[in-house]
Amino acid sequence: MRYRSQSVAYWYFAAAMVLFGLQIVFGLLSATKYLGPDPLLYILPFDVTKVIHTNLLIVWVLTGFMGATYWMVPDESRTELHSVKLAYIQLVLWLLMGVSAVIGYLFRYGTGNKLLEQPLPHKLVIVVCMVIFLYNIGMTIWKSRRFTTTEGVLVLGIGSAAVLFFPALFEYKNYVVSIFYRWWTIHLWVEGVWEMIQGGFMAYLLIRLSGADREVMEKWLYVIVGLVFIAGIIGTAHHYYWIGVPGYWLPIGGIFSALEPLALAGMAIYAYSAIRRSGLSHPNTLALHWTVGSALFTLFGAGLLGLAHTWPSVNKWTHGTLITAMHGHAAFYGAYAMIVMAMISYALPALCPQRRESGTALGYWAFWLQIVGMFGMTLSFATAGIGQVYLERILGLGYLDTQLKIQVHFLMLVATGSVFAAGVAAFIVDFFRYAPRFEVSEEKAPDPDGRSLLAARA
Ligand code: HEM
Ligand code: HEM
Ligand SMILES: [Fe+2]
Repeated sequence: MRYRSQSVAYWYFAAAMVLFGLQIVFGLLSATKYLGPDPLLYILPFDVTKVIHTNLLIVWVLTGFMGATYWMVPDESRTELHSVKLAYIQLVLWLLMGVSAVIGYLFRYGTGNKLLEQPLPHKLVIVVCMVIFLYNIGMTIWKSRRFTTTEGVLVLGIGSAAVLFFPALFEYKNYVVSIFYRWWTIHLWVEGVWEMIQGGFMAYLLIRLSGADREVMEKWLYVIVGLVFIAGIIGTAHHYYWIGVPGYWLPIGGIFSALEPLALAGMAIYAYSAIRRSGLSHPNTLALHWTVGSALFTLFGAGLLGLAHTWPSVNKWTHGTLITAMHGHAAFYGAYAMIVMAMISYALPALCPQRRESGTALGYWAFWLQIVGMFGMTLSFATAGIGQVYLERILGLGYLDTQLKIQVHFLMLVATGSVFAAGVAAFIVDFFRYAPRFEVSEEKAPDPDGRSLLAARA
């Protein structure tokens, strides 16, 4: 750790870990409900466990983004954070919001708008937290007078994510209008501005882990951001196929969303070429696993499995089925869960000095169990989804009859989900195994040009 204030990141990461664990408990609970009579039907039905599962996901991933930003910005701008106190106030407010929202869902207190179910008071607290966050980061950079492209892309992503939350603050009486604007937040988050956040973290990690040339990496970053913008913004229309808006959205959505995987392929090539060209200049190979893993899993889960059902003539059969869940899991995990775990794995040895820089055996178990488990879960959702589309949408069998016929895939989902959960448990145990000790290292801040860092080490 080069700056004392970077230690706030630890508490954000710790909170994210607890919420991640809870998210998985509610995921497994949701999956077991597919298997038959539900003893908890009147206490904790599927709709409640699912909303808690997905909301915890969003809250823990955003907590991770915030922690990782508080870690990265002092490093990039070479300065202490503007206010540590504000960062803690933000964390406490944020967690109070997240936990009380989940408790509210248990009592059916929510708006019912998928992924944006938070009641208005909670949404307003989210806005307050984002304002504090942006102010703190903005002031830090402003005072330092040092602003790198890498952190620029990150901050642009965070700022735009906050702006795009605004459509979610209003309630629309008309369902079509409500769905139309819902995607301005959800789609433009996951297929637009959050990809900038991922790109910013990815560039930071690759520059430090591979010693790749900063100038080259940042040029690539511009290309990726450009592609995200061109395809991702108009690609929103792939959610407008069947919601009651004019038919011209069909070709627009199909063509532009089919271009989106290009940006993701760019990111994967970028990660791979950084490692190939520059090798390894840093001992933390565990963080490198998570970084490159994130780029590749995103290409698979978001790029390939997104493309698989984005064309209108396919989507008319698969819309809202388990095919969507297949893609939603692999994409969210690869892009956002893995990049947060990459940032945590990179920062942790500096926050807990007893930890080995190259990662622990348990850390590698966590990585591989999660990869194998999530791949298996994706296949389970895929096979269940293909069966569902055929039986329900093509043959016209009833929804519940279909669910009974595809139960074998749900057994596979619970089995592979358990492997994944073991990987998550390993990551969490590994995180808390060593006590944090916040010491500022004497090491000079690295040269912004990764190559000279490499030369200095050699
Ligand atoms: C990191 C990037 C991505 C993430 C995290 C992600 C995640 C998700 C999630 C969670 C949903 C379900 C949303 C809901 O129903 O509320 C969804 C739907 C969808 N995604 Fe993605 N996605 C990503 C990228 C992509 C890309 C690049 C494509 C296309 C090439 C794509 C195509 C689709 C389509 C067509 C749907 C609608 C499915 C339906 O009609 O039910 N996604 N995505
Ligand atoms: C043991 C691990 C997990 C299990 C068993 C599990 C199970 C489930 C189940 C059963 C659903 C409901 C699908 C439906 O509506 O029919 C769901 C939804 C969802 N889960 Fe998970 N999940 C797990 C982990 C994760 C992880 C790690 C992520 C992301 C990083 C994630 C993201 C999502 C998303 C985005 C949805 C909404 C998908 C949609 O609306 O189509 N889950 N999960
Ligand atoms: Fe989308």
